[in-house]
Amino acid sequence: MAIERIVDSSTHDNPEEKKIEISLRPQNFDEYIGQDRLKNNLKLAINAAKKRGEPIDHVLLYGPPGLGKTTMATVIANEMGTNIRVTAGSAIERAGDLASILTNLADGDILFIDEIHRLGRAVEEVLYSAMEDFKLDIMIGKGPAARSVRLDLPKFTVIGATTRTGALTAPLRDRFGIIHRLEFYTPNEIERIIKRASNILNSKIDAGAAEILSTRARLTPRIANRLLKRVRDYADVNGDGIIDEATTRAALDLLEIDELGLDPGDRNLLNRIIDNYGNNPVGLNTISALTGDEATTIEDFYEPYLLQIGFIERTPRGRRVTAKAYKHVGKVLN
Ligand code: ADE
Repeated sequence: MAIERIVDSSTHDNPEEKKIEISLRPQNFDEYIGQDRLKNNLKLAINAAKKRGEPIDHVLLYGPPGLGKTTMATVIANEMGTNIRVTAGSAIERAGDLASILTNLADGDILFIDEIHRLGRAVEEVLYSAMEDFKLDIMIGKGPAARSVRLDLPKFTVIGATTRTGALTAPLRDRFGIIHRLEFYTPNEIERIIKRASNILNSKIDAGAAEILSTRARLTPRIANRLLKRVRDYADVNGDGIIDEATTRAALDLLEIDELGLDPGDRNLLNRIIDNYGNNPVGLNTISALTGDEATTIEDFYEPYLLQIGFIERTPRGRRVTAKAYKHVGKVLN
């Protein structure tokens, strides 16, 4: 059984969690903190498209989970003043499923496809001509009587999101005119996001507490907001509801989240590699065998932040734990 991690940046499909997350989501560029380079590029594309009276080009957003890909898609729709239809690669099983989604779109609509790398090959092929020519090629009938028909589609925009562009086929990637990576946020941006969220949640947080949280949220807004809610619970139960430094430290200690935002799962991963392989390079599958997590979980959830803070590095022969990581877990590299 997989351990549920508080610092896991997936949404766990927990409806309550999801509801609060949605209520905290920025609605437009002014409310959206961080990702300035992406915002500037999108603003330009949106202004140009509006001027021409056309939908914007297809957009591909990639990067680790929790950095705001879905949020950015809704911001784009709001800024364009269009409707957004949200789906996921794994939810579109057959070409017919995609055909029914596409034929129900209106001119200018945005189709957001989360985890777009999970689309099956047959579905992907239908999507190619839909994105390129706004035509839908479908087969009608079976056997010798089968024939192909071409239907006109409204002029729509696909916004695709993926944790890894490497997992996308080249022809699909080529259909996107705007391709951007979402970066980790700076601690300062995370601090502003926490203050904004506590305002919306009506909870009082002092500057010191916001600063501590901003250094332990893995530079990821979804985790920042989740930690804020747990600390708020702690303050409500054990104090007067005000989130101060002492409350924050105590709540994070209880969650076993350390000064850098690592949880027992991260520390276990580092310790297992160090104890078994030292600082020699190890393959993803070896790490997966050491921790019992799936390789994709390691790639999507553990690794990006550990790479970002320089605790592991990628070499041609695998991942290697760095001296910095040794020091953090209290071990000596010799
Ligand atoms: N909440 C989650 N992500 C956010 C962001 N990038 N800006 C403001 N609030 C957020």
